[in-house]
Amino acid sequence: MIIQRLEPGEARRAHDLLAASGQALLRQGLDHWSPPAPLASVTEQCTTKEVFVAVLAGRDAATWTMGTFGWHDDPGWSVARSPWYLSRFTVHPDLQGHGIGRALAERIVAAWRARGADVIRLDVVVASAAAVAFWERLGWRRCGGWNWTNWHGKHIDLINLERKL
Ligand SMILES: CC(C)(COP(=O)(O)OP(=O)(O)OC[C@H]1O[C@@H](n2cnc3c(N)ncnc32)[C@H](O)[C@@H]1OP(=O)(O)O)[C@@H](O)C(=O)NCCC(=O)NCCS
Repeated sequence: MIIQRLEPGEARRAHDLLAASGQALLRQGLDHWSPPAPLASVTEQCTTKEVFVAVLAGRDAATWTMGTFGWHDDPGWSVARSPWYLSRFTVHPDLQGHGIGRALAERIVAAWRARGADVIRLDVVVASAAAVAFWERLGWRRCGGWNWTNWHGKHIDLINLERKL
C-alpha cells in the first residue's frame, strides 16, 4: 500500500472515501457520517492537520487524518507529553474485512512513535459496535466519552479510546 499525504487541492479523494463509507454506515442504520464532513472541512484539514490516503492497486482504499489539536479535554485521557489525534479513519466499504484497517493502524502507530508522539487518541460513535471492537482488538484502551454536535447539527455520543506508544 502506498500512503500519500494530500494537498488541499486533493481533498476530494478523502471526501469521496468518507462519503462512500457514510453511505455504507447508513445502510447499517448509522447516520453519523451522512452527509459526510463537508469538502471545505477536509480541504482545510489538509493544511491545519495531515490528511492521508492509502492507495492499493491504483485505487484509493482508505483515509485518515492526524492532528495535534481540535479535541476536547477529558479527565479520562492519560497524561501525555505529545498527544496526537486520529480522526476520519475509514477503509472503503468494498475493501473492509481484509486486514487493511489493521495494517494501516499499525503503520500509523509505528510512524507516530518514530515522530516522537507518546499517545494517539480517537473517538468512536457509541452506536458503532464494529468500530469499537476494531480499535479494542488493536489495543486501544477506553477512557471516557463525550457528546459532540457534528457539522450538520447532529448530536452524537462518543467513546474515547487511546493507544500509548
Ligand atoms: C472499522 C474499519 C476501519 C475496520 O477496517 P477493516 O479493514 O475492515 O478491518 P480489518 O479487516 O483490518 O480488521 C482488523 C481487526 O478488527 C476486527 N474487526 C473488524 N471489523 C470488526 C467488526 N465489525 N466486529 C468485530 N471485530 C471487527 C477484525 O476481526 C480484525 O481482527 P483480527 O485481525 O484479529 O482478525 C472499517 O470497517 C471502516 O472503515 N468502518 C467504517 C468507518 C468507521 O467506523 N471508522 C472508524 C471511525 S473511528
